[in-house]
Amino acid sequence: MNKIGYAIVGTGYFGAELARILTNLENAEVTAVLDPYHGEAIAKELKCDVETDLDTLYEREDVQAVIVASPNYLHKEPVIKAAQYKVHVFCEKPIALSYDDCAEMVQACKENQVIFMAGHVMNFFNGVRTTKKFINEGKIGDVLYCHSARNGWEEPQDTVSWKKIRSKSGGHLYHHIHELDCIQFILGDPISAYMTGGNVAHRGEDFGDEDDMLLINLEFDNNRYAILEYGSAFRWSEHYLLIQGTEGAIKIDMQDVKLTLKTENSEEYYLVHETKEEDDNRTAIYKGNKTGGGITYGKPGSKTPQWLYTIMEREMEYFHGLLQGKESSKEFEPLITGEAAKSAIATADACTKSLNEKRKVYLSEIV
Ligand SMILES: NC(=O)c1ccc[n+]([C@@H]2O[C@H](COP(=O)([O-])OP(=O)(O)OC[C@H]3O[C@@H](n4cnc5c(N)ncnc54)[C@H](O)[C@@H]3O)[C@@H](O)[C@H]2O)c1
Repeated sequence: MNKIGYAIVGTGYFGAELARILTNLENAEVTAVLDPYHGEAIAKELKCDVETDLDTLYEREDVQAVIVASPNYLHKEPVIKAAQYKVHVFCEKPIALSYDDCAEMVQACKENQVIFMAGHVMNFFNGVRTTKKFINEGKIGDVLYCHSARNGWEEPQDTVSWKKIRSKSGGHLYHHIHELDCIQFILGDPISAYMTGGNVAHRGEDFGDEDDMLLINLEFDNNRYAILEYGSAFRWSEHYLLIQGTEGAIKIDMQDVKLTLKTENSEEYYLVHETKEEDDNRTAIYKGNKTGGGITYGKPGSKTPQWLYTIMEREMEYFHGLLQGKESSKEFEPLITGEAAKSAIATADACTKSLNEKRKVYLSEIV
């Protein structure tokens, strides 16, 4: 097995934890970090170098891959530059805030024949894998409809995070692209999108400028549909993905954490994460959280909960495995070329256009 040297661009809440996970993997070494504010501390902890310039970082002989975990609006340059230096890329979600930027990033990685894996971590949920297996086995018949909710209520925070600023995070839909990506893995790309909503209850300097209520209606081919809710203007918080088929339905509840498979004669329960303790731990965290766990944010220095840490481990093991020559599964091919991420952002852009122009937007207008 060949040793892989990793660079980390952005060592805040998520980047630092991904770096720690990598240092625990066999034949993986974090060799350098780049972060204008938090790089030094993490480099000291991980005993690696600090770089301040992307070219110098990617020129290093001990950097074969990069983890890009800077704020969402700052992903494009480190990804395209990595590709140009033939450095493989794992990029946190959303990979970018517009379809055009995604397309450029995907193209650069393709041309330079590097992996471009998106941090769509839901793909590594035990419950998402079980769901796809049940669907493939025909347990719920033909899928007709998906409904996701990821919402809660935001009180004023001590400081306004970049995650609440539309131009930096993209707002709830782009920042929490997970549910949309998951639905598209199940139903494929939609034909059209219609989004209503806006900033209905969080105006003023205590808050960012993102929309706090987004209500999305998607149409797919063959009479299949999806509705997605996102936002921080919901006093009754919810976080789930519900999949309705002709023979049954599956609900992945991420708040009262469990997976339910409902068919005509039975209701069966499965894990969403890897152990019952992780599922229960997530439920307890959500219940103890006034905001609603699905819209709560980490900060540099904060630790990820165990259920999230485990799926981040699975994600890093997968990426590291690919770099060591392991074959990717057919299902995950769009995940490791950036194509799935690009498709989800295309839909998000169609939603944004729909909201701005107050009309149904066809995906063909974006792609
Ligand atoms: N998959 C998930 O569930 C998940 C969860 C949390 C965050 N994320 C993603 O991870 C990324 C980072 O989020 P976070 O929660 O760690 O945010 P964060 O604010 O904690 O960390 C961002 C880091 O980027 C650094 N930074 C700022 N400008 C930079 C630049 N030009 N170059 C390099 N670094 C720079 C900041 O100093 C900070 O340390 C985001 O894209 C976010 O969407 C994903």
